[in-house]
Amino acid sequence: MSQREEFSGYALFLVCIVALGGFLFGYNTGVISGSLLFIAKEFSLSRMEEGFLVSIILIGGLVGAAGGGVLSDRLGRRKTILVTTLLFVIGIGIAAASKTYDFLVIGRIVTGLAIGITSIATPLYLAEIAPPHRRGACVAVNQLAITVGIVIAYSVNFILAGKGDWRWMLAFGMVPAIIQFFAMLFLPESPSWLMANKHTRQACGVMKRIRKNSFWIAHVPEMEHVAHEKIRWKDLFFKPLLKPLIVGVGISIFQIISGINTVVYYAPKILQSSTTSNALMGTILIGVINVLATFTALCLMDRTGRRKLLLIGTSGMVLGLVVLIFSTFLHVPEPGWFKLGAILFYVLFFALSLGPVTWVLISEIYPLRIRGRAMGIAIFANWLANYLVSLFFLDLLAALTLGGVFAVFAVVCLLAFWFIYSLVPETKGKSLEAIEESLK
Ligand code: BGC
Repeated sequence: MSQREEFSGYALFLVCIVALGGFLFGYNTGVISGSLLFIAKEFSLSRMEEGFLVSIILIGGLVGAAGGGVLSDRLGRRKTILVTTLLFVIGIGIAAASKTYDFLVIGRIVTGLAIGITSIATPLYLAEIAPPHRRGACVAVNQLAITVGIVIAYSVNFILAGKGDWRWMLAFGMVPAIIQFFAMLFLPESPSWLMANKHTRQACGVMKRIRKNSFWIAHVPEMEHVAHEKIRWKDLFFKPLLKPLIVGVGISIFQIISGINTVVYYAPKILQSSTTSNALMGTILIGVINVLATFTALCLMDRTGRRKLLLIGTSGMVLGLVVLIFSTFLHVPEPGWFKLGAILFYVLFFALSLGPVTWVLISEIYPLRIRGRAMGIAIFANWLANYLVSLFFLDLLAALTLGGVFAVFAVVCLLAFWFIYSLVPETKGKSLEAIEESLK
């Protein structure tokens, strides 16, 4: 028998509950696309107010990501997750019950805050409870949950669209938050955080419950050594931690500026300009491919490795975009499915690479003592890029046409390929402590 640490059944349950954070992220970002139509009608919103309502959640996310890292390091991962569940319930409650546009905006900001914080706490916690050779898959569960959240949001919108019931579309998001709140009350803190805060005995108690076997005991001295290292977060900006900082921030920015959310947020709009008769069904199909390919990546992550997936994925994204560019510029006499097919191809390769691998990498390349804060910086960059892309997308579209925008994204994907090829390390199968040592 190999001497590998394995998850216990209890740990698998823990993974599912923590991953609800990813689901909440996906659901609450995806739900606005379908509900906006009805909200705009009820409150007679101007175009600007509509745009603001969509982007406000990204500003919330930005602020949440800015504070989420410090919070996770100070409060611990578990308490931070508990805080986010409360914020979700409050934010969604305010938005779903709002009688005025202002309350709607406040509700969405609070929800955004929760998303920003959870986008740090969820992958962080998942990385810290996983055995080394399962860590890629375990953290990729976060991305899988995000994509499932997005499809469920699309589907709930689709089902409730007949009645135009936007309040229930939003309110559905409270259910996983409430489940996560009650479950987390009884679930343990991350063992790494406990170690870092000198609670070695409790950390070992948690390890006993989340591992099937006891091979982990041999690694306790190594875990303790790393946990008690003297690292200040300012050290991130100097060698040898500068490289992981650049890798994490770079990959987080590339994940977004490769254009994924222009597809996720504006798919119906992009598809409308093709002859596809049912843009909404096309949108759901995009969501489903996103889920299936993410699941495939999850299975491959710890076998194929992070680098290979990233390199294959960004190449595939370039190919999908090139086909899209041809179909828009050359006015290929398109059957509607041609453009949809190219978009699906692009999403498929995103979901195999930049989608899940980004979260995996940024949760494993930073030293434990400052992991939360370092991830916070990378994820802040991710939200900032997200906000800027969504802010300028419609203007770019007007200035460059759809083909032009896709050409920009194709160049970005090429740059991402070069960045990954030259800088991203392979971390498959290594313990977090070994990665930390190797990066020095
Ligand atoms: C990104 C989101 C995106 C989603 C799409 C996530 O990893 O951070 O911005 O909407 O993937 O699947």
